[in-house]
Amino acid sequence: MASQSRATLGVSAIRGNDTGKMLRKPIEFAENCASLPKYCARMGIAQNMGICIGPVQLNTPVILAPMSGITDRPFRSLVKRLGAGLVVSEMIASREMLRAAKHMQRASTDCAEEYPMSVQLAGHDPAIMADAARMNVDRGAAIIDINFGCPAKQVTSKLCGSALMRDEELATRIMAAVVDAVEAPVTVKMRMGWNHDDLNAPRLARRAEQVGIRMVTVHGRTRMQKYTGSADWRFIRSVKEAVAIPVIANGDIVTLADIDRCLADSGADGIMIGRGAQGRPWFIAQAIDHCAGKPVRSPPSLAEQGRLIRDHYVDMLDHYGERRGLRNARKHLCWYAKGLRDAAGFRRAVNTEDDPDQVLALIARFFGGEPGAEAAIPRLAA
Ligand SMILES: Cc1cc2nc3c(=O)[nH]c(=O)nc-3n(C[C@H](O)[C@H](O)[C@H](O)COP(=O)(O)O)c2cc1C
Repeated sequence: MASQSRATLGVSAIRGNDTGKMLRKPIEFAENCASLPKYCARMGIAQNMGICIGPVQLNTPVILAPMSGITDRPFRSLVKRLGAGLVVSEMIASREMLRAAKHMQRASTDCAEEYPMSVQLAGHDPAIMADAARMNVDRGAAIIDINFGCPAKQVTSKLCGSALMRDEELATRIMAAVVDAVEAPVTVKMRMGWNHDDLNAPRLARRAEQVGIRMVTVHGRTRMQKYTGSADWRFIRSVKEAVAIPVIANGDIVTLADIDRCLADSGADGIMIGRGAQGRPWFIAQAIDHCAGKPVRSPPSLAEQGRLIRDHYVDMLDHYGERRGLRNARKHLCWYAKGLRDAAGFRRAVNTEDDPDQVLALIARFFGGEPGAEAAIPRLAA
């Protein structure tokens, strides 16, 4: 009943009323003292591991991965409120950023609100990358990250992203130019190498450290693998052993047990989670608890999820405007529904509904979401 009245109120009423406040309120989930992970002690890893990226101190080693089209400002601020140590912007093409392309500038706005936020730059021209880094630091970025990992053909064909792993000289000049351009710490995200014949991540990481890069993240796949196969966490250990700066392990971390195995295999200083947070951003909060050796929070109840999803959706409409916001929100809404009864029906309805208020009503009906409201559709047993 209550959720119906919220749905009837519509998006604009919610926006005008309490959503702004709600969005900034920390999200609290019921604590549950299920199993206390003792993996830190077991594996000889210091508890409450934090990471220093130059002068920027993270109080948790859990980082949200940059994902184009996904880790936009609304999603980042949601995950940030869940406690992530660091969130990274979507990849920003440095040349377009300097030409003031609107979508590139929007991708890096509100950095200060998300402090410490990292802005990720792609490009191949050291001078342009340096200028773009300066511009983003002026706009509030606490950290600049350089993309040496994107496998997409339209990126690598311009000698950007993972293509730069094949040109270590140019990659080094880019890193040096960006480090020289800004006072903010500069980090790099790379893959293991272009292919299995040249797994040069340890060598490139050493070069990175030599020119002043403060942290390296390694996605445990090669460019040729793209997203196939599985991430090789053991390989990441060879990067960790090559440098003294923090090394973050990335790829295929979707459960708490994955975190244990990934850290044990890689010896990394922290973890970066991407797809594991799609449709379940609360996994980041659970990962943080796990890494701190604290009782791990339960996932939110369906009604709590409903409120969180509604806030996320309304924030997307605010950020992009109603038409684009509604379109961009669809993939998130479909991920949120995954594993729930009649998710297919919900997906169909959401993907064909063009009225923002009606989508809000669909969210309210499917997930509940008003304080005290019971979920209309219970989560399927695992
Ligand atoms: C849709 C999508 C977009 C991505 N965009 C970026 C990006 O902009 N920059 C980047 O460095 N990596 C990007 N990645 C790679 C992720 O950051 C991450 O390295 C990869 O997904 C492996 O981690 P995961 O298994 O935790 O998702 C993207 C991945 C996906 C699935």
